[in-house]
Amino acid sequence: MSNMVIIGAQWGDEGKGKLVDLLSADISAIVRFQGGNNAGHTVIVGDKKYILKLIPSGILHEGKVCLIGNGVVVDPAALCKEMDAIAEQGVAVTPERLKLSRKAHLIMPYHRLLDAARETNKADSKIGTTGRGIGPCYEDRAARVGIRACDLEDLTLLRAKVEHALKEKNALLAGLYGGKPVDPDEVMAEIAPAAARLVPYLADVSSELTKVEAAGGSIMFEGAQGVHLDIDHGTYPFVTSSNTVSGNAAAGGGVAPARLGRIIGLVKAYTTRVGSGPFPTELLDETGEYLQKQGAEFGAVTGRRRRCGWLDMVVVRESIRLCGIGEIALTKLDVLSGLKEIRICTAYMYQGQKVDFPPQAEMGMAKVTPVYESVPGWSENLEKAAAWEDLPAAAQRYIRRLEELAGVPVSIISVGPDRDQTIMRRV
Ligand code: GDP
Ligand code: IMO
Ligand code: MG
Repeated sequence: MSNMVIIGAQWGDEGKGKLVDLLSADISAIVRFQGGNNAGHTVIVGDKKYILKLIPSGILHEGKVCLIGNGVVVDPAALCKEMDAIAEQGVAVTPERLKLSRKAHLIMPYHRLLDAARETNKADSKIGTTGRGIGPCYEDRAARVGIRACDLEDLTLLRAKVEHALKEKNALLAGLYGGKPVDPDEVMAEIAPAAARLVPYLADVSSELTKVEAAGGSIMFEGAQGVHLDIDHGTYPFVTSSNTVSGNAAAGGGVAPARLGRIIGLVKAYTTRVGSGPFPTELLDETGEYLQKQGAEFGAVTGRRRRCGWLDMVVVRESIRLCGIGEIALTKLDVLSGLKEIRICTAYMYQGQKVDFPPQAEMGMAKVTPVYESVPGWSENLEKAAAWEDLPAAAQRYIRRLEELAGVPVSIISVGPDRDQTIMRRV
């Protein structure tokens, strides 16, 4: 079996888009299993830049099937817009190449409004969501009042569900938050054209994946966000609303857990986070600024500046443990060039004790002090490094130390955004 799961081991934006694009060359089908258009996965090919939010990042390879699984929350209008955007860039999206699970829940305009209203009304405890309506949509799924992609096939039924939902949503939007009530006609004006467009793409994604394997093909599960944004295992409440851990690839894709295959954890050579929430190794000094600038750390979805800090191996080790990560793809190593000293967080001080795991108490992660070790930096530009031997000794030492701390090998090293700025290592 050559199936694989690609997940972010930090707080998202580890470079999943680049790796999925690169590794999917030998894969038959790529499936998203959670999250929605809160994700922004960048793929750079030559002088073209694609930002994929809902469409799996394997779409640039002809002949691959890309699937949006039942665990994803889909904004129909946003999906249509994304299809248009990549069509304009010369990538044809057809129902043969893109399949949307009938079981996927749909983000409605009132979910986006609620997301915004809730954030606005949180004085100093804003999550800093992407504002895409992700949380409210997953809430409706759990409350069993959600609208699913299969409902696009019956707009009379869909409208009835919208009217029912709006009784409660408008009580919140207008009654509690002082906004304008939403009219069902407005909702339908957005959904109906998207429905007409998306119905041909509806599929039984779970069965499609079974067929892929039966025909001897392989599947890649493309994670979104990162393990520490997981609704259960992340820095709650500053998390997203889905399980981002590898285990959810099975539930959210509709496959048996034994079919997941290799689990590859993506680790950025330093740490970034967008939005609020604890970030033990955050750097609020010129080094943080350096990483932000060198790494061009701006959110691919919202354009917000990403917070930057040193690599946190407590965070990474927890992801390895939770997800069964067997190998690491280390990204953005090139960004560290030019730093005299590089720090790695190996443990935390928490309540007077040294701990090597994230504390579980509410906001425990906000109360830890990182324990660092220092390694020498390097000045060489890594952008052209094509093999392990091309890396300066100090960079090799950094990676070896990281492997010791992780207990799993670094099998892939990324030294630039382009497909070929990648070192494949035999480990
Ligand atoms: P994702 O959400 O995990 O797919 O990551 P994003 O696309 O949000 O952010 C990663 C950014 O880093 C993108 O702009 C990529 O083009 C870029 N990138 C990926 N790998 C590398 C790398 O090794 N070096 C550099 N300098 N940039 C990279
Ligand atoms: P990719 O897949 C980084 C963050 C938001 C916010 C929190 C909750 O590109 O790595 P949400 O809109 O999901 O309710 O926001 O999660 N967040 C991400 N941060 N990368 C992402 O995706 C993210 N998706 C959501 O910034 O802090
Ligand atoms: Mg991203």
